[in-house]
Amino acid sequence: MIVAVDGPAAAGKGTLARRLAAHFGLAYLDTGSLYRAVGLRVLRAGANPDDTVAAEAAARGLTPADLTDPELRAEATGAVASKVAAQPAVRAALLQFQRDFARNPPAGAKGAVLDGRDIGTVVIPDADRKLFVTASPEERARRRWAELGAKAPPLAEVERTMAERDRRDQERAAAPLKPAPDAFLLDTSDLDIDAAFAAAKAYISGANTSGTN
Ligand code: CDP
Repeated sequence: MIVAVDGPAAAGKGTLARRLAAHFGLAYLDTGSLYRAVGLRVLRAGANPDDTVAAEAAARGLTPADLTDPELRAEATGAVASKVAAQPAVRAALLQFQRDFARNPPAGAKGAVLDGRDIGTVVIPDADRKLFVTASPEERARRRWAELGAKAPPLAEVERTMAERDRRDQERAAAPLKPAPDAFLLDTSDLDIDAAFAAAKAYISGANTSGTN
């Protein structure tokens, strides 16, 4: 069982995907953390995130330790991640790892949940279930701002940088952010975590496959 969870920033993908994985006994991979780690490696090497040679080298040299970096979740790291993520060579370097994780999940799990931007469209186009999780831009910015806590920049700045990142993710030529034609659309603007989880669980269990929530 492979479940793809895609959608824009702070739509609730991570929390939802983690809960679904725990509920269904599946392994979980946050693919955004791979792009974030590549972005940080590029910065730490003193290179420019738009430098394709440096970005590909960073992607090819990724190690597990890079995925526990405390700076991974910073808002600035998300912006750098979306710059390196627009480069086809970076995406190609990370593709096989994601597919291997899905096909041969760790610890004997009987499947996997992967969250990202292109899981249902490019990474695992034949995933058993595909969710596309969205929420209004205002609600997403508010959630990210609350999540960042004491480290949060002003809300208006979070809104602005998130809109920029959404645009870059949607407009890039390589694996742009968009729902797979067969994805179940889940708008969480007016749903709390429990309600979003209930809707996603019903869809995955086969109770609701109508294509929208
Ligand atoms: O947590 P949030 O939704 O803010 O971001 P993330 O999932 O950690 O992803 C950070 C950035 O990585 C995104 O803005 C995308 O540019 C990129 N990404 C991607 O291109 N493809 C993926 N499968 C996952 C993330």
